[in-house]
Amino acid sequence: MPTPFEPLRIGPLTLRNRFIKSATNEGMARAGLPTPLLVEHHRAIAAGGAAMTTVAYCAVSADGRTFENQILLDTESVPHLRRLTDAVHAEGAAACAQITHGGAFNFLRKLTTRWPGSASGGFNPPGLLVGRWFKQAMDEAALMRCAAEFVAAARNARAAGFDAVELHMGHGYLLSQFLSPKYNRRRDAWGGSAAQRAAFPALVLRNVLDAVGSEMAVSCKLSVTEGFNGGGTAEDASAIAKVLEASGAHLLVLSGGMNVESPWAIFGSPLPAAAGGPVDTAFARAAGRLMMLTAPKTVFRELYLRPHSQQVRAAVRMPLAYLGGAKSLVGIQSLLDEGFDGIAMGRALLHEPALINQFRDGLADRSGCTACNQCVAEMYKPGGTRCVLRPENDARLNVRPA
Ligand SMILES: Cc1cc2nc3c(=O)[nH]c(=O)nc-3n(C[C@H](O)[C@H](O)[C@H](O)COP(=O)(O)O)c2cc1C
Repeated sequence: MPTPFEPLRIGPLTLRNRFIKSATNEGMARAGLPTPLLVEHHRAIAAGGAAMTTVAYCAVSADGRTFENQILLDTESVPHLRRLTDAVHAEGAAACAQITHGGAFNFLRKLTTRWPGSASGGFNPPGLLVGRWFKQAMDEAALMRCAAEFVAAARNARAAGFDAVELHMGHGYLLSQFLSPKYNRRRDAWGGSAAQRAAFPALVLRNVLDAVGSEMAVSCKLSVTEGFNGGGTAEDASAIAKVLEASGAHLLVLSGGMNVESPWAIFGSPLPAAAGGPVDTAFARAAGRLMMLTAPKTVFRELYLRPHSQQVRAAVRMPLAYLGGAKSLVGIQSLLDEGFDGIAMGRALLHEPALINQFRDGLADRSGCTACNQCVAEMYKPGGTRCVLRPENDARLNVRPA
């Protein structure tokens, strides 16, 4: 069995060890561009020993953003992102861009269409926060345009020096709206069984692989359980993983939960009632508080997505990265022993960016992250996300680059 410090090959890329910093929306983009603070954030994670750091939430198009202050992976952003990838490479790590389209999960003031596109149309609860109550089913032309946007974004990521792109197929964004039985009610070629619901995400994947797959690793992040009644199960995720494997994905990053229905299933612990959000109105605050108060009581357990992820592990042979509550070296080694190839970590590396080096040097054997999720509440503050047990970020660096 590999140790966590052995290299890992994913597609054309070889990682220096098994640790991947998962995408955690940094709150460090302004009007489409990465801020100098974002560069420093990822440089520090690279210097701290992770093999690859993932830049969260790079939108493939203006309508594909979830909110205004998000990276837009267009040609304008390329030289700015190049500073980030150069800084990460100088520390010996690889850089991955998470590329995403929000679909119906967006809080934008302006869209080019009246309603946001999704797998199926109908009432759209998150749209209530911005007065856009409905979503519309994407037609064939919209689907092909969107697939082309993913390809263009992946090409821009390559031009900016990224070593990998992660297609966001989890947590309730557009591609997971296709995967989810709750969101996808289509009766055409893009809906039906779990494998059929994977048809559009798999098409996007194949097109991205055709465009950049010989030069960069292409991974997919998906939810191994959507975490609510009527949502996708580990059986669904296993069927979807098989489709993605057959389509040539280099790596799957396994996550769980959905932003609207089950955010606690993403984190394995409750969100603070003041988790805030991109829309700061009395109504939005009340809706957020109601959601947290009615959430099921979740008690954090290390490796909380392990049973669901094991089911996916059993279904495919391709490289898989486990994600969700990885905290201790003992737990991490047990995941590798079970056949997971990589370990993705979010909060533990927000708490201590140098954790991987500390593991390697015998200075620590577990993370001090308490899974309090205050880092989620920090995301929308001027200094961006941080662990509240650490010093504040320098908000003066969190500005649009010159
Ligand atoms: C502050 C914060 C922001 C996050 N933003 C994103 C995001 O933009 N994209 C994403 O795929 N996951 C996001 N996540 C989820 C993490 O990638 C990960 O799935 C989750 O934190 C569980 O892993 P962990 O226990 O290692 O933290 C976020 C998590 C945190 C704590």
